[in-house]
Amino acid sequence: MTLKVRILPCGLLIPLIFLTGAISAQPWSERVQDLIKNMSIEEKVGQMTQLTVDMLCEGEPYAITVPFKISEEKLEKAVIQYGVGSILNVPTGTYPGVEAWHQILTTIQDKVQESANKIPVLYGLDHVHGLSYIRGGTLFPQPLGLACSWNTSLAREMAEITAYESRAAGVPWSFSPAMDICRNPVWPRLWESYGEDVYINTVMGKATIEGFQGRDLSNKTSIAACLKHFTGYGLPLSGKDRTPAWIPERYLREYFLPQYQASIDAGALTIMVNSGEINGIPTHADKQLLTDILRHEMHFEGLLVTDWQDIHYLYDRHKIAHSLKDAVRIAIEAGIDMSMTPVSYDFADLLVELVKEGTISESRIDLSVGRILMVKEKLGLFETTHFPVTDYPEFGSERNQEISLQGAVESIVLLKNKNDILPISKDVKVLVTGPTANTQRSLNGGWSTTWQGEGADQYLAEFPTILRGVEDLIGRDLVQYAEGASIDEITDMDLALQKANEVDYIILCLGELSYTEDAGNINDLNLPDAQLELASELAKTGKPMIVILAEGRPRIIRQLAPNSAAILCAFYPGPQGGNALAKLIFGDENPSGKLAITYPQYANSYTPYDHKYTEDRDVMNSGLSFNPQFEFGFGLSYTSFEYSNLQLHNSEVSAVENLQVSVDVKNVGEREGKEVVSLFISDLVASITPPVKRLRAFEKIILKPGESTQVIFELPVQDLAFVGPENRWVIEPGDFELHVGPLRQKFRVK
Ligand code: BGC
Repeated sequence: MTLKVRILPCGLLIPLIFLTGAISAQPWSERVQDLIKNMSIEEKVGQMTQLTVDMLCEGEPYAITVPFKISEEKLEKAVIQYGVGSILNVPTGTYPGVEAWHQILTTIQDKVQESANKIPVLYGLDHVHGLSYIRGGTLFPQPLGLACSWNTSLAREMAEITAYESRAAGVPWSFSPAMDICRNPVWPRLWESYGEDVYINTVMGKATIEGFQGRDLSNKTSIAACLKHFTGYGLPLSGKDRTPAWIPERYLREYFLPQYQASIDAGALTIMVNSGEINGIPTHADKQLLTDILRHEMHFEGLLVTDWQDIHYLYDRHKIAHSLKDAVRIAIEAGIDMSMTPVSYDFADLLVELVKEGTISESRIDLSVGRILMVKEKLGLFETTHFPVTDYPEFGSERNQEISLQGAVESIVLLKNKNDILPISKDVKVLVTGPTANTQRSLNGGWSTTWQGEGADQYLAEFPTILRGVEDLIGRDLVQYAEGASIDEITDMDLALQKANEVDYIILCLGELSYTEDAGNINDLNLPDAQLELASELAKTGKPMIVILAEGRPRIIRQLAPNSAAILCAFYPGPQGGNALAKLIFGDENPSGKLAITYPQYANSYTPYDHKYTEDRDVMNSGLSFNPQFEFGFGLSYTSFEYSNLQLHNSEVSAVENLQVSVDVKNVGEREGKEVVSLFISDLVASITPPVKRLRAFEKIILKPGESTQVIFELPVQDLAFVGPENRWVIEPGDFELHVGPLRQKFRVK
């Protein structure tokens, strides 16, 4: 059969081209142009340098004196001698409040006023799920949990609050959102972005950017977003952090660029580079990706910052540079604007040398400096670097905590509910047990008060753990507690078993503590033996067991699932997670989360929902084909929804039309509930083996018992394009199938 290929004419859909010409100068404002004219090479390179705040503190980086103190001598060196453009991070071992942040910012920006050009410093923090590093600020579910809410309005609102509270502390730049789709669930940063699907990452990321940046970045409630980590970081072959990825161009274009393109189109001002390597090329050295594709094809005009120390790593980790100086040259030639050095001045010294000896042209660094100054200008930093705290009465407010609670509730997914055992009544006796029952670490993950999140129990003690959430809701008298096991060792199992015999229900809390990056690497996705043993012994008591998975990635639960009466999955729901889980278990809230990642049944069998038809083949009925524990998009409710009347405006459409799809959804249960109505589409035959289906749209609705509504989707047929044999986006005429809930309908693209 011959297939007619239609090549699409827009943006991202351009074939790969290798542009080598000079990068055109940007239309900078007069202020920026004048500054560039007046700056020395050293000052320009200073702007391209980003230090960690420890470099300004007394003591050594990573081992500063406590309480931290800004050293006048180090400040002078950073801000006056080197004129650094940006500073990041929280002083090691501290968790400053708004006032303390104001002091840090004031000290730095006042010093700037003593410099020749008085260019404000751009300060950045990792607000990965709300205010990671600002005491008293609001924290929300981590991105994977948020993705499981399938609620983009919530994502936007959380980002607005984050921007407001961050500006309250004087910090105008956040290193988020991460948009690395993840297809290796063992990867320790899976939970930092929005799961396995491109579309969810696209819409959640876009909502977050809109929430951060608002309409006007200079507004005192807006901050600059930083998309990360461009791109392909989420697919390390080994699953270990920052290890090699092998991503063919076709796959890269279809799965790793569209979410970034949508965010660039939404105005994202800055991007951070992937610390790993793709096809043998460290991304920080990849000119084709960082310049030819990102700048020329995707039209990104903002600031491109390295990740932590990544120029150094080109030399001393990746081994593609003969010297550090060579590494600086390679990264600049690849297209980076700012180096997160962040604990040395080598980058600045070496780049000055490279420019002075003519290896790197001054016009090349002007381009980066222009982008950096443009970001500062858009943020209004030349006018005001930070506003009075009194301008922010809603900082850490109760209302913001309510949004955090709503986010937590909607992020949690009910995966099993045998005989509708949940919700349970509030007058029963329960045992709360397991390693994640009484800690905030398992509810928050990394980037929570400290980088690895280990500070959460100390600093977030005012928020209930799961145990306390249950106690607060039904009263302490009805609740027993025994840890039973830590994450990987049996502790007081006998006590747990004894108490289990005295109660009506067991609430068994399993999963993981907090981690990120290398510290979160594991060798095995299975739950540690101690947790499985605890589950198996508790099951023998015959008491109904409600399992809570508080974790950052889908640890394997195949062995314990059959023995559980109910299973709730909480991918780091944030500090309100304990409250949210209690409300869901005892019926104050109705679950509405749906998995944003396929939950595998075996450690080595993870296959995403949009796998190929060959992966569905069950040869000899072996059970070895696609066999997840729970499918992407799955999640139960305490009510039920009925789908009917799936309509498509025309069963034959052209590639330039919009598909108009409608479906009726009715709440046929007895309580109000939220439902995610999702539209998947299958391309039935294509020249590149098609995935069994792709998510193309969704809407979250709320219905009272007996109520029904019509949900309408309008979708450009162009959204059905894929990257074809020539590595170009194409739509091939032929047969397609829509899936909405249990309903299906075929149509033809002419
Ligand atoms: C992480 C980034 C983070 C940066 C700054 C790096 O180690 O990979 O995600 O934004 O540190 O804290």
